[in-house]
Amino acid sequence: MMKKIASTALLTIMVFTWFGASAQQKADATKIKKISPDLFGIFFEDLSYAADGGLYAELIQNRSFEYNPADNRDWNSMTAWKYETDGFGYGTISVETAAPVHPNNPHYILLDIQDEGQKGVGLENSGFDGIPVKAGKNYNFSVFLNVLSDQSLPVKVALVDRKGKELGSSSFTTSGKGWKKYAEQIHVNFDNDSAKLVLLIKAKGKIGIDMVSLFPEETFKNHKNGLRADLAQVIADIRPKFMRFPGGCLTHGDGIANIYRWKNTIGPVEQRVEQRNIWNYHQTAGLGYFEYFQFCEDIGAKPVPVLAAGVSCQNSGGTWRIGSTGQKGIPMEEMKAYVQDVLDLVEYANGSVTSTWGAKRAAAGHPAPFNLEYVGIGNEDKITGVFEKRFRMIYDALHKAHPEIKIIGTVGPSPSGEDFEKGWKLADQLSVGIVDEHYYEKPQWFLKNTQRYDAYNRLRSKVYIGEYASWGNTLFNALAEAVYMTNLERNGDVVRMASYAPLIARIGHTSWNPNLIYFNGSKVFPTVNYYVQQQFAANSGNEYLPGVIKLKGEKAALDTTAGVSTVRDSATGDLILKIANAGNAAVSGEADLSKIGQLPQSATLIVITGNPEVKNSADNPQAIVPQSSVIKLQKKWAFTVPAYSLTVVRISSKGMEKHK
Ligand code: AHR
Repeated sequence: MMKKIASTALLTIMVFTWFGASAQQKADATKIKKISPDLFGIFFEDLSYAADGGLYAELIQNRSFEYNPADNRDWNSMTAWKYETDGFGYGTISVETAAPVHPNNPHYILLDIQDEGQKGVGLENSGFDGIPVKAGKNYNFSVFLNVLSDQSLPVKVALVDRKGKELGSSSFTTSGKGWKKYAEQIHVNFDNDSAKLVLLIKAKGKIGIDMVSLFPEETFKNHKNGLRADLAQVIADIRPKFMRFPGGCLTHGDGIANIYRWKNTIGPVEQRVEQRNIWNYHQTAGLGYFEYFQFCEDIGAKPVPVLAAGVSCQNSGGTWRIGSTGQKGIPMEEMKAYVQDVLDLVEYANGSVTSTWGAKRAAAGHPAPFNLEYVGIGNEDKITGVFEKRFRMIYDALHKAHPEIKIIGTVGPSPSGEDFEKGWKLADQLSVGIVDEHYYEKPQWFLKNTQRYDAYNRLRSKVYIGEYASWGNTLFNALAEAVYMTNLERNGDVVRMASYAPLIARIGHTSWNPNLIYFNGSKVFPTVNYYVQQQFAANSGNEYLPGVIKLKGEKAALDTTAGVSTVRDSATGDLILKIANAGNAAVSGEADLSKIGQLPQSATLIVITGNPEVKNSADNPQAIVPQSSVIKLQKKWAFTVPAYSLTVVRISSKGMEKHK
């Protein structure tokens, strides 16, 4: 969402005027610095219903009847389901595990219908807080059924509103015995935000039911087993250079058995290994490694899978609560197989279609490689002997087998401290290419630490700031992050990547705040922080031009509530100026474009500003959004940007001579 504003209105928030030439203020062409082309990306974790009930477009909750009390104390196979006998039918219902669709998917429902009554006997699913449907749209239903009686059974599947009014339906008859997948399309005639799916068997008989699924026909890029189109598009609109997945703490898990194993998440969905989500819900793995890679490709983001370093989360057994059992290491006798899993991931992503794992990628419909370049090992782990031993094993094997892969190590959960120091020491010993720093801090921390990376030794590992956020979603929070990000651009030679965290959260199911994007079943609410991230990612460059923008006066130059940067994208030749002001007063300065060459007539100006206390919310989703306009360009400008603002000027290379 970007509002266009008239240039007269713009004058009220920003004034550009001509300044006289000043030799000292010109950009020094000799100091142009190559910076990372992958600086700003996104962090995706299946946290706060980000995958199931979120980006993954499946509308049925607990489709495979695998929910259980280990996921969440109040859950079981019938969570989100209701036994449906409204037409006065009767029989028995049970949860069975004998002869399931697949051993990885052990639970299913068995109905023994003794009298089908007026409407049939079956099941009703309430989705994730209701099933949102739209008039005129089609929905793809599928189910695995196992008819155990001798005759074929008539089945009706319908979407109904809360009062039982039918919104759309389809009917079919089973054929034969044994587990079989049936697929139907339901055309919906009415809008509804909280529909239910009803599956009714309209005859006496015995039948097993599993993998009850409903997807909108239109998913992001219309992939089968696809992603929710509106949410995926808002993510794509950030134009991230990379995407980290599947977490976060989710990667190293709550105990060894809960470590995220990528091989469990590929292949037919009914055969994937579901498991407890560390954030106290359930992972179907329907959004698995294939879908992650595919999404990265769809949005032009480099995939950055992060794998556990052979240890579980140090908070295992009590995540985010006092009294955890702590980090556990995969037994050494199992580490060889674990290391092989890591190597196999590279083959799955990049290997030829004749390789074992490349063939599985091709079988899933993607013979071309996914061009995996980065692999993360570990997630803010406690740097113990147990960790170090396993990390070294994985690192050595991966580095030896795939020197082309850029390995990202880990340096603890904080910007300093014991794990940070020990993690860096280990990275130095192994010459790890990149290390993953994490920090969640107050906005003031970001404003006080703008010089952090100026002091970094360029000969040590590069940095991936894999998780960071100031504690909040107000404009002030977003601007503190923006000021910090101008400094990341200046240090883009040592900071290779950065991703705000977490990315998305379903309203009513948030395990962590703040997030970049909130959503419910049918709407998506980008925060102000989102718009800041979007401006930086969509307007990034691979060359940093120092000295183009100068803030006025000594005091302003030292004032860390403001930050400036100028980058150029050598692919397009476009030049981008950024002025972030988290202070309570307007900031003036000068942008010297006299060395840029022949300037185009105009440039795009984008401003994010407003009341620093304001957030975007479900009630006021567009309280603060970027304002876009076109400005006339001049070689030397004096500018005044408003208090609490981010200003981005994008100068297209069209009509511009090369900046020498
Ligand atoms: O982003 C939320 C959590 O914060 C991540 O799972 C974890 O890595 C960090 O502590």
